Amino acid sequence: MSELVTAPPSSSAVRLPPTVRVPKLLGGLFFAINLPMFGRVVVVAESELAKQIFTTSPDELGNIQPNLSRLFGSGSVFALDRDDHRRRRRLLAPPFHGKSMKNYERIIEEETLRETASWPEGRSFATMPSTMRITLNAILRAVFGADGAELDELRRLIPPWVTLGSRLAALPKPTRTYGRLSPWGRLAEWRRQYDIVIDKLIAAERADPNFEDRTDVLALMLRSTYDDGSIMSRKDIGDELLTLLAAGHETTGATLGWAFERITRHPDLLAALVEEADNEARGGGNELRQATILEVQRARTVIDFAARRVYPPVFQLGEWAIPRGHSMIVSIAQIHDDPNVFPDPERFDPQRYIGTKPSSFAWIPFGGGTRRCVGAAFANMEMDVVLRTVLRHFTIETTSAPGERWHCRGVAYTPKDGGRIVVRRR
Ligand code: HEM
Repeated sequence: MSELVTAPPSSSAVRLPPTVRVPKLLGGLFFAINLPMFGRVVVVAESELAKQIFTTSPDELGNIQPNLSRLFGSGSVFALDRDDHRRRRRLLAPPFHGKSMKNYERIIEEETLRETASWPEGRSFATMPSTMRITLNAILRAVFGADGAELDELRRLIPPWVTLGSRLAALPKPTRTYGRLSPWGRLAEWRRQYDIVIDKLIAAERADPNFEDRTDVLALMLRSTYDDGSIMSRKDIGDELLTLLAAGHETTGATLGWAFERITRHPDLLAALVEEADNEARGGGNELRQATILEVQRARTVIDFAARRVYPPVFQLGEWAIPRGHSMIVSIAQIHDDPNVFPDPERFDPQRYIGTKPSSFAWIPFGGGTRRCVGAAFANMEMDVVLRTVLRHFTIETTSAPGERWHCRGVAYTPKDGGRIVVRRR
């Protein structure tokens, strides 16, 4: 049932890679499939092709349909395309820009110390419940500027919302009304409760005498005006805040879980990381920890795809001609496994990045181009500070147990046992 059409690349005729009807790994680098909901999809697993996709104008390669805005709402950045998307990204960029990161470091350290205060000593436990709470608190404080009791309600609502939402993300949404107890009904009820909290938080921010000077994300949204003088609607603000809270914590929490799962199995690396963290207090650097984070993100990719949709009649991708309406999915994990770019890809080895930076089109855990993850610098800073703080305050025991298996939570891939470690206070 091949759809391969052997037209020369220069022609505008369609020329698709081999097609299969079920998503399965062919061992090749490129194939086409039919996916429920997404229709015709081309899966790309070669960094040169990924580069082409990420560097093509968003006017040509747009937003995949459907996308995560089915969960977050039409005001989410995931829903937007072209000028609307550019405008929103300009608004979201400043608080998540690399330069703003120093301000958050103290908060993350504080959250890590608070969370790890109750870690048990001498027995194995899963780190992920802790890393998820740390990253949720971190993004809550970035988004709302301060901590406070009113955020407790969001701490209660967001985690189950994300867990259920992730499971529903790849399923069709029923078109008829769904019952209150159905999964979609439960999401809608949590959203109703979420909106009540957001209304209170908006009222509190507006009443702040220093409102004009606030730099948190909510204040930026409340003050923003578009070129025509209009402001961001209340619904769009709610959709976007939910997007940031959801997209911003599970991914980072899962990557940290993998980081603990990896370093407890690599004694030499762990010893070197401890020494580096101790030396840092005396003015040393953090090159090895940064390299370890890069390698965790390569070898244990938590979000496996970044996708775009073809807008022109035909899009020439390498030697292939992809017709309008097709979606192209960049398979991040497969690109991270390419032995031509990362020799011996099964080996977990942060030394790959000592003294060199990985290519931004082969190392792509945050996707690429104009839709590249808005929280990449924030996530990196969080992971760095959490690891540094734990390494300074705890001795992590090493283990020769086999690596944890992958577990798909719907959107993110996490360590199956939650990144288990054994620690003692130093
Ligand atoms: C290790 C942690 C994270 C990983 C692995 C990750 C991964 C990704 C990936 C693969 C994309 C799609 C990029 C593309 O289509 O090219 C994305 C988009 C996005 N991420 Fe992250 N992310 C992480 C942390 C965060 C954080 C902390 C935030 C919150 C600030 C965040 C907010 C977003 C948003 C809003 C988008 C949509 C961007 C757009 O469509 O313009 N992510 N992320």
